[in-house]
Amino acid sequence: MTSTEEPVQEGLRPVRAEAGETVEVRFTVNGTPAVLNLPARVTLADALRDHLGLTGTHVGCEHGVCGMCTVLVDGEAARACLLFACQLDGAEVVTVEGLGRPDDLHPLQESFGRNHALQCGFCTPGFLLSSYDLLSTKPEVTDEELPAELSGVICRCTGYRNIMTAVSETRAAHPEGIPEPGNCARRALVGRSGGQSATVVEEPAEPSGETSRNVEIVLPEGDPTIAVQVDTALDVPFDQVWRVLDDVHVLARCLPGAELTEELGEQLYAGRARVAVGPIKLSFHGIARVLEQDRDTGTIRVLAQGQDTGGAQTQADITLRAHATAAGTELRADAAVYLTGRIAQFGRALAGDISRRMFEQFADSVRQAATTGEAPQQSHAAPSAFRMMFGTLLDRIKRIGRPRGGKS
Ligand code: FES
Ligand code: FES
Repeated sequence: MTSTEEPVQEGLRPVRAEAGETVEVRFTVNGTPAVLNLPARVTLADALRDHLGLTGTHVGCEHGVCGMCTVLVDGEAARACLLFACQLDGAEVVTVEGLGRPDDLHPLQESFGRNHALQCGFCTPGFLLSSYDLLSTKPEVTDEELPAELSGVICRCTGYRNIMTAVSETRAAHPEGIPEPGNCARRALVGRSGGQSATVVEEPAEPSGETSRNVEIVLPEGDPTIAVQVDTALDVPFDQVWRVLDDVHVLARCLPGAELTEELGEQLYAGRARVAVGPIKLSFHGIARVLEQDRDTGTIRVLAQGQDTGGAQTQADITLRAHATAAGTELRADAAVYLTGRIAQFGRALAGDISRRMFEQFADSVRQAATTGEAPQQSHAAPSAFRMMFGTLLDRIKRIGRPRGGKS
């Protein structure tokens, strides 16, 4: 029996597929367009969790009873365990990850925290999205009506009293209407099933030619994943250092693993960068725009963004400042780096150490280029982040082992 022979629920597309055959579905999840090739039997809950890595959607009963898997589909609460992903072509899905940012929670999330409305937290995503749906469609709901209105979600910790208080408080604080989800923006989504996943996250086309000239690099709002500041003293006069900073081709060759592939005009460049983190090899294609290149202040500012085929995405706002000193040149690198996708899984401390070590290597290459007047030899192998990290760890161990005030 196929859904084309049956009445179809409004908004859901009918799908005819053989067992094992994959079906392409394109939808938007938390503001990010995604393209999935999935067997028709895969539920929306499994697609979100396994193929897009959005594990905030919890699965309890898988029968539509417990409400744990509640998400918003085209703005309305829906059980993700009762929908097949392939039916949702063209739909807008919002999960708990889209509701608020870690540094800027949605009022409902704040209220749940403030009122101790989560114990184990397993039902929390379902309650949050059910409450959001309720307050956005029925803002006049009364406290007396809340238990019945929210009875579609079961809390096995039986934390209902605090949950009702949290929802009631949020409603009272926003009589003009509940704020919209605050974390829906384009970002990379990466599934958990690695190479077996049929997930394809829609990527911006590789930049080239006319289209790239119009590309604007827009950094995400909010704090960067990592902020790096590296100061390096170079025993080379300022003029020689500036000659390197002033030549984008030489500059690019000083970046570990980077390669400039195309000049797009108007200070916009396309390039590639590789880095190996243990067995994971990341190969980024991206663009960089030079915003400032001023010899008088010794400043060069670059915005860059890149994406690898696995969906890891990085964006950065980098400022280099060089100034003459008695011993040569002081080079300062300030970088705000935004990471999404699998690269973000390494944690801030590790990613911060890797970025710092890369800047140190970059400064070394600038010194070399400024001294010899030649661009450094390009290595086409991806620099190993772990090897760089190992260097950082050794430095730390040496510092810890060093007696206070002593010198190595
Ligand atoms: S897991 Fe979907 S309702 Fe229980
Ligand atoms: S807080 Fe544990 S299931 Fe509700």
